[in-house]
Amino acid sequence: MDRKTIIHDPSYGNKAEAFEAYDDIPTNPNLSRTIGDVINARYGRRDVLRGMLGVSATTALFGSTALVAPRGADAAPASRYVFDELAWGNDATHHIADGYEANILLRWGDPITADAPDFDVMNQTAEAQLKQFGYNNDYVGFWPLNDEGTRGVLCVNHEYTNEEVMFPGLGRQDRAGFEGMTRELVDIEMAAHGGSVVEIAKDADGFWSLVKDSPLNRRVTPLNTEMRIDGPAAGHDRMKTAADPTGTRVIGTLNNCAGGMTPWGTYLMAEENFHGYFWTDTLDAEGKPDLSNQPEAASMKRYGVPGRWYAWGQYHDRFNIDKEPNESNRFGYIVEVDPFNPDAMPIKHTALGRFRHEGAETTIASDGRLVIYSGDDNRFDYQYKWVSSDVVTEENAVFGSSLLSEGTLYVARFDADGTITWLPLVHGEGPLTAENGFESQADVAIDTRLAADLLGATPMDRPEDAQPRGDGTAYIMLTNNSRREPDQVDAANPRAESRFGHIIEIKEKDGNHSATEGTWSILVLCGDPTIADVGAQWHPETSESGWFASPDNCAIDADGRLWISTDQGRGWGRTGKSDGLYALETEGEMRGHSKLFFRCPVGGELCGPYFTPDSETLFLAVQHPGTDGTKDYPGFERDSIFEDPATRWPDFDPAMPPRPSVVVITKTGGGKIAV
Ligand code: FEO
Ligand code: CA
Repeated sequence: MDRKTIIHDPSYGNKAEAFEAYDDIPTNPNLSRTIGDVINARYGRRDVLRGMLGVSATTALFGSTALVAPRGADAAPASRYVFDELAWGNDATHHIADGYEANILLRWGDPITADAPDFDVMNQTAEAQLKQFGYNNDYVGFWPLNDEGTRGVLCVNHEYTNEEVMFPGLGRQDRAGFEGMTRELVDIEMAAHGGSVVEIAKDADGFWSLVKDSPLNRRVTPLNTEMRIDGPAAGHDRMKTAADPTGTRVIGTLNNCAGGMTPWGTYLMAEENFHGYFWTDTLDAEGKPDLSNQPEAASMKRYGVPGRWYAWGQYHDRFNIDKEPNESNRFGYIVEVDPFNPDAMPIKHTALGRFRHEGAETTIASDGRLVIYSGDDNRFDYQYKWVSSDVVTEENAVFGSSLLSEGTLYVARFDADGTITWLPLVHGEGPLTAENGFESQADVAIDTRLAADLLGATPMDRPEDAQPRGDGTAYIMLTNNSRREPDQVDAANPRAESRFGHIIEIKEKDGNHSATEGTWSILVLCGDPTIADVGAQWHPETSESGWFASPDNCAIDADGRLWISTDQGRGWGRTGKSDGLYALETEGEMRGHSKLFFRCPVGGELCGPYFTPDSETLFLAVQHPGTDGTKDYPGFERDSIFEDPATRWPDFDPAMPPRPSVVVITKTGGGKIAV
């Protein structure tokens, strides 16, 4: 189906659902079946079983760089999760396992600077939104500001906006040709994207709240935050625009999905679905973008530019490729923000490549180098890893470090024999030469997907978050891929029409995250284990509430245990379950056992999660409550809009629509979340 048909298909209840369905259409040309694929398919099930049965003898490793305070998670898990499992379901509010508290910390619109106005949902302005908490909170990071851990800086991504529940009287704008959008509304949308940096503090009762007058509090947005472009693409002709003839400065960041905190406490924001913000008025007879006059048409096609999911290009020329063809080359990167210095200009690190970055979780390898795992969230796209050239030292563990500009970006090939090979994306090596269109490392940085295609990376089932643990283990969330055909399955993506996703565990060679090879296995195949056709695989003691679908974000607590949040989109109609947070055993006899800990209000997806270093506080982010799949919500069964939302979580005020919010989880009476 083409984009227009999907937009007008009544079964897609909002723009985000339509976007996700259209995005199913693969842009990766590397999908022809090879003999390797055939072998992979044949042996896939055996390898799945090997992964399920494998008992990992992991050891805690942390290299010579312990001078840099590591962010927990450097130990292998030693004990089980101890909490009474929450029962599954889906209703208007959130639920947490017994014995825990869930408090709302920050809501969309909350004033976050000393001079910010109160939120007035009926009279929104961009000026006010620039001082208020943004929309659709996704990644959450935390860094303590004192030894007691009672003050800290919270870094939150605001991925996108849902105009139909955000603005009164607007409804679905993609369906209406964006006729209701105005410059004013577009600017509010832009001001609601990006990120928030805020100081928070915990009182004597263990209750966290915003420190509203902290000088650290600020918004980072695509409307007005200037950024420096760093790395091999900086200053290249393909990065130059009318507004920036140097190719080294760009206004803003957008569609910031997951992210990461560096070992020295700077905040990494991943730019994910950037293509959706670019516009064209040049359409072919079928109403599709006509790229025939675009010199970079092949690159644009591989990235899905222009997506035309927002009307920004109608009011801001730089988002219209007819007027500014190079602006899209300046998005799709990892952005670094210094949360301790509000005057520090954020940096786009092009060395880490350009793709639909889901996240940017960091670790220090046992050889002392910085490693960042980042997935490209698209059907049939790839898993990447960055390895710095230098080891981390006290001198270079700073904002704007060369550790994020000098190093090697790798893409993963998963073989059927259980090995993973990390293929270097280095200009001049292998096929990455001028004859193949790569004149320099700048071209590799800008056209990372095209470079990875040439290297023969493994097309995956939508790589979402990836989380390294200090012992050389990493977990990769593959959320789903309904478009994988039976003849496209392989060992690492073993199900056709995979609607529920799976999780891969990587063990890097010698426990060293900078290794260029290692082994992999499948930790779980998600979905309902009682339905044979689903082909799910869990530990057999996983309960009816414990299995999940569409893993998205994840965290490893200070004791090395894995926690996973889900995003089923409208697919929750198939499971009946809201999205939630699950504790998943990775070691020993209970490997593959999952338990439900928290669940979202209807139509929301769960993001974060992030533990404080003492593991006594867990931050979660409920994104787009009351939107996805509301036609399947028993008793509601219609599209959710501002005037008639499926829930008014978390305020339940008849004058307030649902508000994306950050939730703080603590144990009743204090103590570690899980022991
Ligand atoms: Fe924004 Fe890949 O989820
Ligand atoms: Ca995500």
